[in-house]
Order: sequence, then C-alpha cells, then structure tokens
Amino acid sequence: MSSRILIVDDEQGIREQITRWLNYEGYKTEQAANAKEALALIRKMNFNVVLLDLKLPDMDGFALLEKLHQEYPDICVIILTGFGDEDSPAKARAAGAFDFFAKPIHFESLIHRIDTAINQFRAERENYYKREEEKLQFQFENIVGQSEAMQRVLDLIQKIATTEETILIQGESGTGKELVAGAIHYNSLRRQNPLIIADCAGLSENLAESELFGHEKGAFTGAYARKIGKFERAHQTSLLVDEIGELSPHLQLKFLRFLQEKTFERLGGTEHIEVDVRIIAATNANLPEAVNQNRFRQDLFHRLNRVVITVPPLRERRADIPLLVSHFIKKYNRRNAKSIKDISKPALDLLEKYHCPGNVRELENIIASAILLEDGEVIKPETIRMRLVQPVADFQPNYRNLTFREARRIFEKAYLTQLLEQTGGNISQAARLAELDRTHLRNKMKSLGMRDMDDNGNAE
Ligand SMILES: Nc1ncnc2c1ncn2[C@@H]1O[C@H](COP(=O)(O)OP(=O)(O)OP(=O)(O)O)[C@@H](O)[C@H]1O
Ligand SMILES: [Mg+2]
Repeated sequence: MSSRILIVDDEQGIREQITRWLNYEGYKTEQAANAKEALALIRKMNFNVVLLDLKLPDMDGFALLEKLHQEYPDICVIILTGFGDEDSPAKARAAGAFDFFAKPIHFESLIHRIDTAINQFRAERENYYKREEEKLQFQFENIVGQSEAMQRVLDLIQKIATTEETILIQGESGTGKELVAGAIHYNSLRRQNPLIIADCAGLSENLAESELFGHEKGAFTGAYARKIGKFERAHQTSLLVDEIGELSPHLQLKFLRFLQEKTFERLGGTEHIEVDVRIIAATNANLPEAVNQNRFRQDLFHRLNRVVITVPPLRERRADIPLLVSHFIKKYNRRNAKSIKDISKPALDLLEKYHCPGNVRELENIIASAILLEDGEVIKPETIRMRLVQPVADFQPNYRNLTFREARRIFEKAYLTQLLEQTGGNISQAARLAELDRTHLRNKMKSLGMRDMDDNGNAE
C-alpha cells in the first residue's frame, strides 16, 4: 500500500510542485494551505507523513507540530522552512519532528529523505508498541497459574484481548473472574481507559437498571437527580457486567438490545444514548441450566456464548496452590510490613488437601490472616488449621445440582443429628436449644426419615 502524504504550506506554487514530484514517485497526496485545513484532513484520513511549513497564516507551525506529536504519534512529521533561523532544526526535533528541510527543496534529496523517514519512523513506532506490549504482558505476572488449566485460560485471554468481541467469563465464586476481566481489558486496545465494573448482584430491578443504564430525575421515588449509569461511563472503554445471571427478564432484554444496537435509554428516559463499549460479562451461575429453566433468555445466552472463558475451580488445579500461597505470602508481607519467610511443609500439605470451596479468594484470606497471626518466621500448620472451618476434605456437603429444597433437607438432617447427639437424644432439650416447638421438631425428624426417640431415649 502506498504511503499518503499531506503537504502543508501557504504557498500554492510549492504545494503543487511537491505534489507533482510525490505523485510521480507513487505517493498519494493531499494539500492544505493552513493549520485548520490540515487538521480537518488529518481527522478525516490517515497519513503516514506530514510535510509541514513552519510559517503558517493561522497558527504557529511549532504549535501545530506539537499538537500532531501529542495527538497523532503515528504520523511522521517532516518540517519544511525558508532560509535562516539557525536553531529551528533542533527546536523542531525537540518538538517531535522527524526530519527538517530548508528551502529551496531539492527533488532528489526530498524523495530520498521521505523514503528513509517512512521506513525508520515505522520501525521506531513498531518498537515502541512492542515495548508497550511487553509492559502489559507483565500484568500477566499477577495472574498466578502454572497448571495446564490456567495456562489454557491465559492463552485464551491473549488471543481474544485485542478483538472487540463480547466475552463471557464463567466460574465459581472466588476463582478469579474479575482478575481475568482486568487482564482482557488491560491487554486490549482500550487499555488507556480504566475498566468499569458494574455489579448487579443483590439489587432490586430499579436499582440494577439505574446502576447499569442510569436514570432521569423523577424516574422513581428517591430519584432526585439524573444519574449516569455504568454503560455511559464506560464509553470508549470496557465494561465488566458482573453476575449477569442475576439480571431480571426486563434487564436481560435491555442488555440484549444494547448488544445488538449499541444504544439504550436511561431509566425513565426516552433519549437513545449511543455509546462505544466493549462488554465483558461474568457469572458464577450455570447459564445453560438457567436457560432451560426459563430464567435466562436463550437469545441473550447465545449472543454471550460466542467467546467463553471458563475459570476452573481451585480444586481442579491444585498444582497452582503452592504458587498462589507464596504469591499471597509476598503480597501480605508487603502490605503488613511483616517478614514471614515461608510456609511449613505440613501447613502447605493441609492447604493442598483442603478442597477450598471459596476458591482463590478463600485461599488468599487464609494466608492473609495467617500472616497476621503467625509469630514465627514460618507459617505453622496450627495457624492454618485455626482458619479452616474444618480441615477435612468433605467438611461441606456437595450442594451442586441440588434444588434449594434438597439442599435444605441435607442441612436440616445434619443439624438435627448434631443437636440430638449433643442432648443425648433428648428431644425436649433439643427443641429448647433450637428454639423450636417439640411437636414441630418431631414432625421434622419424621419427614426427614430420622429415627424418633422419646425423651427417655427409647425408640417409639
Ligand atoms: N490466579 C490468580 N492469581 C493471583 N490472584 C488471584 C488469582 N485468582 C484469583 N486471585 C485473587 O483472588 C481474589 C478473588 O478473585 P476475583 O475477585 O477475581 O474472583 P471472582 O471469580 O470474580 O469472584 P466472585 O465470583 O466472588 O466475584 C482476588 O483478590 C484476586 O486477586
Ligand atoms: Mg467477581
């Protein structure tokens, strides 16, 4: 593809002359007689090179040079100027000019220097971008994960970050979904702006709608002023919509419309607001199941399901536990000005066996408090054990795939069994402790299929 060059000079004769030379050499050209015309053209199309006369009728050439350097760093600016002014070349280079030419301009040397300028400049810019990228790669260092499962996640992040695709991140609570969203955003083309996060968990429909889309004054009781929502705030950056599974049917529809049309209305408003937002959605819910149960729109699910990142639970990548532990030891040493050196082998063993229902967040909390509590240099197993609710592999029953009713049954049975153990089978006493009516307790036990004993411990 041939390069496009903008010639900025107030003298028409010179512009025409240079244009003829450059066109003859196969360059595409445009002309501007002043700074205003030049800026209008630069906003409209891409230029590789701007040939800029420092003497312009409407703006100081140096000011324009500085503006281009700041706002269009990918354009190579070459200065053209009349005789005299000895310190101009140095000044122009300091202001960001790539090369400097004194008139009268010699055809051969102009073409030669434009050619070299284009090549050199391109190489410099490529280098610069590579360095920037490396700097950003560095952020991956904050995501610990040697396990194959996490390596796959990291590979995927790298592949999709610079696309503009909508991404769905799924995984249990505490697995690192927000961290993954950050890695995507800060490795994307939108990284100059911060990632905006909207969490709609636990909000009423009105509040969730206002949080996401904003509201107009008077939209609902208590809406005293207009509020700008997260979608608007995320203009030209990325928006993490967390706990997408909790959106009400109305908000699911509004969200789907946004994905299709890029516009929305504030709550209580009629104005169509158009924003340029890249969506990253996250959920710890099982969306396909929610779709089957008609709790989540199928069309929205399909729209979101194109690029999915699944962050595996910690128990499926135990290889990462030792690395995470030392990562968190460093982090909390720094934060609390402590100097815990390490974790003892038996303490680490405990953690490696622990099934960690709260995933990485729970592991992080365990280490954070161990760092505070530990008075030696090495974390001892006792310090860890204190923090584990019950360090047995199955201390919590597996509630996955159960209905609420089924899960409650398991809990009730376990609770009553313990309670009756405590009272030696005495139902009256158990009822008092549980603050339940005795008859109610007995009925409960019956419905749970538990052996009913009378107050003397005899089976009825
Ligand atoms: N691979 C990892 N390396 C380092 N730190 C991690 C990693 N994964 C998670 N963390 C840390 O664990 C904590 C929880 O992670 P995060 O908030 O991203 O989880 P989440 O999946 O969004 O949880 P929730 O579903 O509860 O919102 C954070 O402090 C995060 O920095
Ligand atoms: Mg989260």
